[in-house]
Amino acid sequence: MAEYPEIPRHVAIIMDGNGRWAKERGLPRLQGHRAGAESVREVMEACIELGVEYLTLYAFSSENWSRPEKEVMALMGLLDRFLDEKAKDLDRQNVRLLAIGQLDRLPLKTRKLLERIQERTAGHTTLTLVLAVSYGSREEIIQAARSLATDAAAGTLKPADIDAELFASRLQTAGIPDPDLLVRTSGEMRISNFLLWQISYSEIVIVKKFWPDFRQGDLFETVKEYQRRHRRFGAL
Ligand code: FPP
Repeated sequence: MAEYPEIPRHVAIIMDGNGRWAKERGLPRLQGHRAGAESVREVMEACIELGVEYLTLYAFSSENWSRPEKEVMALMGLLDRFLDEKAKDLDRQNVRLLAIGQLDRLPLKTRKLLERIQERTAGHTTLTLVLAVSYGSREEIIQAARSLATDAAAGTLKPADIDAELFASRLQTAGIPDPDLLVRTSGEMRISNFLLWQISYSEIVIVKKFWPDFRQGDLFETVKEYQRRHRRFGAL
């Protein structure tokens, strides 16, 4: 296997610990999410500086819908604000936005914003920011299986022709390289239904800090840790 490139092409992040960050400070959870949005801005900048091509952020999981309505609405509000404020920057920074997840479950305003910015930034090439919102990996895999089964039932696809490449092409991440580096903050050792198919060979780095404390320098540190690893993809 060829030497892996020094800079991970694709970094995926499970942003965890906003609530605990706020609790430690005696603040409402929303303040933790607000501070977390600031980390998102910094980490994006860091990725651009390093030359990372894809940054995927787990902004809202399909399980997060079961949080209290007030928190769900606050998170959607934060996302709207981030998108509103960032729209111009994305042009300036040459960043393309992509959204994955069950977007039809999102409030109309959020969905429209995502659609509009995705269209507007489609030609940008410096960094692709993939926002996973209302995202669940099992749901995504089921959807892909369903689409293949539909073709097979219609007689346009032979089951024996289904291979990893074809399967991946039916996922929402079709066309996006698999993450090289997966980061999770707040010390938890869980994947939480995030990119289950795509992280098969990713290097995983768990960081103790809560997400609102994870800033530019921390991203650089995780990339250094990645560079110390030797990726073998199952070979010797
Ligand atoms: C995990 O913390 C974080 C989330 C559920 C949402 C992530 C959202 C943001 C960082 C802010 C907005 C996003 C963007 C893209 C601008 P938690 O609430 O699960 O924390 P806890 O485990 O300590 O309770």
